[in-house]
Amino acid sequence: MPTHSVTRVGLLTGGASTERDVALASASQVLAALRSLGHQVDVVDIAAGKVAAPEEHFLLKAGVGTHPPSIESLDTREREFLLAGLGRAVEQAEVLFLALHGGRGEDGTIQAILDVIGLPYTGSGALASGLAMDKDLSKRIFQLADVPTPDWTMERLPVEDAGDRFGWPLIVKPSKQGSTVGLSLVKSPQAYADAVRLAEQFDDEVLVEAYLPGRELTVGVLDGEALTVGEIVPAHEIFDYECKYQPGMAQEIFPADIGPDITTECRRLAQAAHAALKLGGYSRVDFRLTAEGYPSCLEVNTLPGLTAASLLPKSARASGIEFEELCEQISSVARRTS
Ligand SMILES: Nc1ncnc2c1ncn2[C@@H]1O[C@H](COP(=O)(O)OP(=O)(O)O)[C@@H](O)[C@H]1O
Ligand SMILES: [Mg+2]
Repeated sequence: MPTHSVTRVGLLTGGASTERDVALASASQVLAALRSLGHQVDVVDIAAGKVAAPEEHFLLKAGVGTHPPSIESLDTREREFLLAGLGRAVEQAEVLFLALHGGRGEDGTIQAILDVIGLPYTGSGALASGLAMDKDLSKRIFQLADVPTPDWTMERLPVEDAGDRFGWPLIVKPSKQGSTVGLSLVKSPQAYADAVRLAEQFDDEVLVEAYLPGRELTVGVLDGEALTVGEIVPAHEIFDYECKYQPGMAQEIFPADIGPDITTECRRLAQAAHAALKLGGYSRVDFRLTAEGYPSCLEVNTLPGLTAASLLPKSARASGIEFEELCEQISSVARRTS
């Protein structure tokens, strides 16, 4: 006997985001999970429209490449669809499941449009999504909520000043991006200008941030409660695009072998960061340990990857929540603000 009622779900995915491939990979597995639970699901690519059943397989099974896809030609199509087509494409849905990552799908734009359309959707609301996507604003809020976060500046510091303040290596990253796109670990003053130029290609606002040398941790949050803390051990020095999405390029260990004190602290800080940004249904909070071994929050992901091999599902599974149940819970706490 299913413990849930059967629902007509609109599964929004794709889009004109550098994380488009990842969104399609998430959608592929969320679709299978929701259908296995008996829900009726329609797939909608927000850069192309409703996906006909025979096309679903080809769109969703392409896999994630070693580099983010070029999305220039999709941007206009996404704008046109959001303006003119989205309302009609989802009119029969009772709830919208957002298998979207990055871009307008994660930065609050789609959430605001869906608030106008008036359908409940998974994840966080428009304002919270926008805040979490903006690393500078998130970090200011973390500080107000006593969630430690690495020292940073939004000033275009001359290279000498950047070195004086943060030392080498340091981190340069766009404020509003994901999947490590546009982010550099800058080891020497010679590499600084190129790193800033790269980050500027993705966002006018660029963070220069202190490098945290310690272990990397992540923890899922579901309905306000922290799940199991995991450790990420990437094959490269940082958890870059390739390590995130190519099988075998990172060890992901749940639960992290970090002892009870750091585990408890990470879970407490994850819940505090989630609450401080006023996030909804679920999120995943990224940390690194400082040289002294204390957790420091890098960012919160409001729409983290949702393939069965993604970090949030692993964090949930280690807490006893299998992938289908996770998808069911995410849909059942879907929000409606209208
Ligand atoms: N301050 C930092 N110190 C050390 N590594 C960092 C730092 N900031 C980012 N990284 C590395 O880059 C990855 C991506 O950074 P993050 O801030 O989480 O942005 P994204 O939104 O792209 O995931 C992290 O998972 C980590 O491996
Ligand atoms: Mg991250």
